[in-house]
Amino acid sequence: MPNTVKPLIAGNWKMNGLGDSLLEVQAVVEAMSGKNAPNCDVLLCPPVTLLARAAVLGSDNSLAVGAQNCHVAQKGAYTGDISAEMLADAGATFVIAGHSERRRGHGETDGLVRAKARAALDVGLIPIICVGETQAERMDALAITVVEHQLDGSVPGLEAGEKIVIAYEPVWAIGTGEIPTNSDIVRMHSSIRDWLVTKLGSAGETTRILYGGSMKPGNAAEILALPNVNGGLVGGASLKADDFLAIASAA
Ligand code: PGA
Repeated sequence: MPNTVKPLIAGNWKMNGLGDSLLEVQAVVEAMSGKNAPNCDVLLCPPVTLLARAAVLGSDNSLAVGAQNCHVAQKGAYTGDISAEMLADAGATFVIAGHSERRRGHGETDGLVRAKARAALDVGLIPIICVGETQAERMDALAITVVEHQLDGSVPGLEAGEKIVIAYEPVWAIGTGEIPTNSDIVRMHSSIRDWLVTKLGSAGETTRILYGGSMKPGNAAEILALPNVNGGLVGGASLKADDFLAIASAA
């Protein structure tokens, strides 16, 4: 299927960024408001400490701001946690759910990821639901099966009009400089597209499927041109506005 969906380039800053990093956000906002702005939607997910200030910078709609995680409940006695409703209140419009660093480092299961995505949808946030196989699973030719299983468990049922984004991020490609071959990316994205259309009907045809894992200015154009790749989830290369904008310009 040709890429008729407007691409989304999303930056995931992870646990990086202090107040002075807002200069990078400002630079992205300026570029996105200029006349040579990249022809895609752009989202930055800074650490939650910077979220509200980043949202103010992007409030002319040139830049969307999102969070990297949320709790399944909207409020209550959960010391240290942050709800989807709080993120929306701070200016977020997206939230990442089930990044592999949270699945691995915080024991997040498919069921928990699904509950987080549901909590996000309930307050009008768009969840970016992450899936992806490990190196061992790819070596065992299990990549497609593992990802289908993660989708089955992590994607909540949707009400009419609710939107999600899927991010395919092979665990072994995150932060390593390694990326799958083009044909492996095409095969996986096409399998995810089939899954979405089967589960969501026509809405599944336009659901964005992002590729994530070592996307850089030097490889973005080639990856973003592949069928069913509707954007990217960018970690390391999103921390500097110049690199991030170079990726957005390649979309
Ligand atoms: P990376 O991270 O671009 O640094 O590989 C991607 C991600 O974890 O979302």
